[in-house]
Amino acid sequence: MRKPNGFSSKTLDPVLLLYIWAHYLQEQQPSEKKMIYAGIGKPSYLLNEDLALAATNYWQELLEKVAQTKKLITDTTLSPEEKCNWIASTSSAIDYDMPSGVQKAQEMMAQALTKWYSLQEPIDPCSIIFSVGGVSALNLVFGVINQRTPGGKIITPSPYYPFYNNAAHHNHPHFIDLSNEPGYRLTAEALKRSLKQVQEGQKIAAFLFCDPNNPMGYVVGKNEWKAIAEVLKTTSKDIPIIVDEAYAELTFGKKHISLLEVAPELKDRLILLRSATKGFSASGERMAIMLCFNEEIREDLLNATSISYVHAPISLQIAYAQAMLAFTEKKREALSQYYQIQVEYVQKRLKKMNLALPDPSYAVEGTFYVVANLSRLFGTKIPERVADVIDTKGVISTDQEISYALLFQDRMMISPLSFFGANPQLGYVRITCSGGIAELTELLDRLEARL
Ligand SMILES: Cc1ncc(COP(=O)(O)O)c(C=O)c1O
Repeated sequence: MRKPNGFSSKTLDPVLLLYIWAHYLQEQQPSEKKMIYAGIGKPSYLLNEDLALAATNYWQELLEKVAQTKKLITDTTLSPEEKCNWIASTSSAIDYDMPSGVQKAQEMMAQALTKWYSLQEPIDPCSIIFSVGGVSALNLVFGVINQRTPGGKIITPSPYYPFYNNAAHHNHPHFIDLSNEPGYRLTAEALKRSLKQVQEGQKIAAFLFCDPNNPMGYVVGKNEWKAIAEVLKTTSKDIPIIVDEAYAELTFGKKHISLLEVAPELKDRLILLRSATKGFSASGERMAIMLCFNEEIREDLLNATSISYVHAPISLQIAYAQAMLAFTEKKREALSQYYQIQVEYVQKRLKKMNLALPDPSYAVEGTFYVVANLSRLFGTKIPERVADVIDTKGVISTDQEISYALLFQDRMMISPLSFFGANPQLGYVRITCSGGIAELTELLDRLEARL
């Protein structure tokens, strides 16, 4: 695989590579049809106002301090030594803080999450580690997990979020294959079956779940989590359970129910991930947290944080925590409805076009993704430029060839499901439903014309 600059893409995330190509094509040929970006997890709902206000207030307070300090600098009655002492005492510089985060932000976030998860026992603010986006949190978690159990398997459902299996992490995934499960959903039964396939003597480093699920859009739900918790309890107590809840705010209808709420007795094994990217429409500012109750694992995570980014930017910790505190069910409903309308529109249209997945029980209950079956494009000629980029030729026979062909010919970016672990010969792709109905209509029209 090649980047537009000619370099090999190596461990670059394949979805990001597709995105880089989409941007490149748009820049190279601006007069052509507008590129439709429906291949990356791009939020488009309005930025969370509480988050922006909290960040603005933080900087405003600092600016006021700076203004006071500037007055001292220009004061001719003060000696240089006196000025020096005054400036140092005004604390108008931004200091380093603790790797876990600033205490005030941890306290606010702990309070917000105690409420979010309806917990009887308040979350200890120390259990929260702020990070620079969910991706960097996952990177640290994988580092710690693999250090604790070198070579150990990470049990995770497939399809999966591609970052889980990026070669740079040196993870050893053991997949719970959902491709033949009803609705392509995670169930306790599928987990049980998959555990039986783990070879004797093979160590398990962690369990890793993504709920609400990217890419399939299922939400595990209370009853299934209960059953899954029972299976997890049959495994060794020292195996961490990572739950990626990056889409926690984006469930259609009822609020999301976490494994933490259903089985608080497992909390010492849990590492929960939350992010401001999707729920607060702030992907570019990189805000996330890890919630880890286990002191030993937390220490490892803090050590990893301290040699990575030291700590997350203070303004963003405060902004994220304050926004979480101010987040209400009403706000969540408005946000999730915005995406639900788009998801339902795309699903309806795909059905009409005969591009829906074969299992009629496939349902998107959260996130903003819909998976489509584009295998009808198999057998058509691979455009020349595509053949050059992805090193292939002849006729389309994989989902990646479908995606790149649509990118170059029809200027639409949608992601092949093989990037998420699916069989490339199925011809499945993931469509991000966030560009608005008009743009999604245009995307589906272009697809229809191509078919
Ligand atoms: C399942 C999942 N986890 C984590 C992330 C990381 O999000 P961010 O780094 O923007 O917080 C994403 C982003 O798309 C995701 O889809």
